Amino acid sequence: TVLVVDFGAQYAQLIARRVRECHVYSEIVPSTMPVEEMMAKNPKAIILSGGPSSVYAEGAPPVPHGLFSTGVPTFGICYGFQAMAQALGGTVARTGTAEYGGTSLDVLDEGVIFAGLPASQQVWMSHGDSVAAAPEGFTVTASTRETPVAAFEHPGRGLYGVQFHPEVLHSEHGQAVLRHFLEAAGCRPSWTMLNIVEESVEAVRRQVGDGRAICALSGGVDSAVAAALVQRAIGDRLTCVFVDHGLLRKGEAEQVERDFVAATGVKLRVVDAAERFLKALSGVTDPEEKRKIIGREFIRVFEDEQRAIMADGPVDFLVQGTLYPDVVESGGGTGTANIKSHHNVGGLPEDLQFTLVEPLRTLFKDEVRRVGEELGLPAAMVWRQPFPGPGLGIRIVGEVTRERLEILREADAIAREELSRAGLDRQIWQCPVVLLADVRSVGVQGDGRTYGHPVVLRPVTSEDAMTADWSRVPYDVLSRISTRITNEVREINRVVLDVTSKPPGTIEWE
Ligand code: XMP
Repeated sequence: TVLVVDFGAQYAQLIARRVRECHVYSEIVPSTMPVEEMMAKNPKAIILSGGPSSVYAEGAPPVPHGLFSTGVPTFGICYGFQAMAQALGGTVARTGTAEYGGTSLDVLDEGVIFAGLPASQQVWMSHGDSVAAAPEGFTVTASTRETPVAAFEHPGRGLYGVQFHPEVLHSEHGQAVLRHFLEAAGCRPSWTMLNIVEESVEAVRRQVGDGRAICALSGGVDSAVAAALVQRAIGDRLTCVFVDHGLLRKGEAEQVERDFVAATGVKLRVVDAAERFLKALSGVTDPEEKRKIIGREFIRVFEDEQRAIMADGPVDFLVQGTLYPDVVESGGGTGTANIKSHHNVGGLPEDLQFTLVEPLRTLFKDEVRRVGEELGLPAAMVWRQPFPGPGLGIRIVGEVTRERLEILREADAIAREELSRAGLDRQIWQCPVVLLADVRSVGVQGDGRTYGHPVVLRPVTSEDAMTADWSRVPYDVLSRISTRITNEVREINRVVLDVTSKPPGTIEWE
């Protein structure tokens, strides 16, 4: 295990991911964790993350007491670098000048960290004050124009640090820098997908024993991979429930019912609840109201299923596809996860009397996808872009009706097909297609005047959905999508492109 000590910046997760990309398991711990508790995790190496701009910044958190006397190899990044310098008797100058963005780094001494890397390289900086003098016994290995001490190391003590951010892609050789540290610390690259699968399956077996579990499938990658792992561990003692609310996109229900079951052998109960959801949504136009109704109906249907399953014997466990970022963001506690209502289909009720099984709790999204591939899940499912739990219900601006759902489903399928064909799937975070059901515009088709509806294309790029930018999809691809939708979907006579970033716009329209 490599511990990434989080000093409160958003970089800790990125660092942990980069470490795992070197096939070494990493875990994020708060900087307030006592050193004894860290040592109980038996870390092979420790990385101090970035944090406030300077060790002199207000409320700057201290390095955990006694960390440097543990003998565990440690790498300081940005704030962690300054904090290391200060704690070991170096000096951090209160220059007050900031360095931000891409900078050229000059390697003065390859040492361990820059072994075999170019003498001049682009790195990404984001700091206020700077280290003026390295602690005694350390070698200064790199500098920039603004920062004479941009990296130092003391291989004898296993201590290293850099002022820049090796974890961001703008630092050209950042991944190599991290790898050099991990190698020097003796971390072996044993965190592979096969290991993850085997360990997770084993852990589920231990937890569930000979009990039974249920799992709600949404069509998304997280619940699918979680279910597939649990199925490997306990076989038929897992029952999956798929509530088809009729708000999925074209082909998605079949993907769950047919392809997923074929790939995993999961025992599945399908509930076709489209009629029920439509009825509950009838006359409703307010987005939050729609969400509430969809969530409520989902819970009711799920509870009915749960009762039916429990008629065959007790069920103690509920499988959830909680991911590591959710665990970290909710404080990293080990108890029952708090289920974010926004990001689950309705969110299951809190008073469910189940113990949670969360086989993806230690994984990042990209790892979940690779585990899914390892388990042989359908590619369309593993690589599915984010799709909201309430589905197309919040992509029809106006009342949700069966007819409108069919129109939107067709338009959405065309957009997805053309974006895939253009090879843009992995570049685009997601591309909602939104039906403006209450808007009509005049058009002309053949010899006739039409009076149809517009759809909005909303392709975005994003890292985490918190912020997003509109995606610069090539004009010819947009043109093909527009031509096909207006030709093939009779009710739509206009296709428009959303060119708003988030903020101020959200990704979805509702
Ligand atoms: P917004 O529209 O808030 O979306 O920028 C951010 C991300 O969340 C998804 N989203 C939802 N997911 N239930 C969900 O499970 C919801 O009610 C919901 N609303 C938005 C959205 O698709 C995007 O990925």
